[in-house]
Amino acid sequence: MAILKVARLGHPVLRQIAPPVEPEAIQGAEIQHLIDDMIETMREYDGIGIAAPQVHVSKQIAVIEAKGSRRYPDAPDIPLTVLINLEVTPLAPDLEDDWEGCLSLIDFRGKTPRYRQVRAKALDRQGHPVEFVATEFHARVLQHERDHLLGKVFIDRMPSFETLSYLSEFARYWNH
Ligand code: NI
Repeated sequence: MAILKVARLGHPVLRQIAPPVEPEAIQGAEIQHLIDDMIETMREYDGIGIAAPQVHVSKQIAVIEAKGSRRYPDAPDIPLTVLINLEVTPLAPDLEDDWEGCLSLIDFRGKTPRYRQVRAKALDRQGHPVEFVATEFHARVLQHERDHLLGKVFIDRMPSFETLSYLSEFARYWNH
């Protein structure tokens, strides 16, 4: 396994629409190694999700996990989940504003509206279909990662940049 270099905002790969993975390719060594490296990279940098475009691979793969994150100490636990060809559908029109960050905009936090409840459909790392409903923080993480596969980052979803903050100022003035 290897820790991969994370693409930062400005790298064109973050703005490309990632193509889906052919289901027959999922069990192959290339995709399996990539998934292992994405998990290791996410854990190394204390992320709670990472999408393949963030490690310079334009493919529809994301991994998420939240467990005692130093970057998100208040985050509820999310089990390790591998999501290939992820689709996210809102289940209700209500949006919720909350703080978001990203390993590709490592120094920033900003309040970002997201749907409160979504349905996620994807393939797991064995290529089996998975489908589940997620709410609040879990739903937010799924929408954030789905956006990476569409060439979007969280600041694209902010209606205003008034809350956009460096991490140290976020911790000092906003995190209470
Ligand atoms: Ni991100």
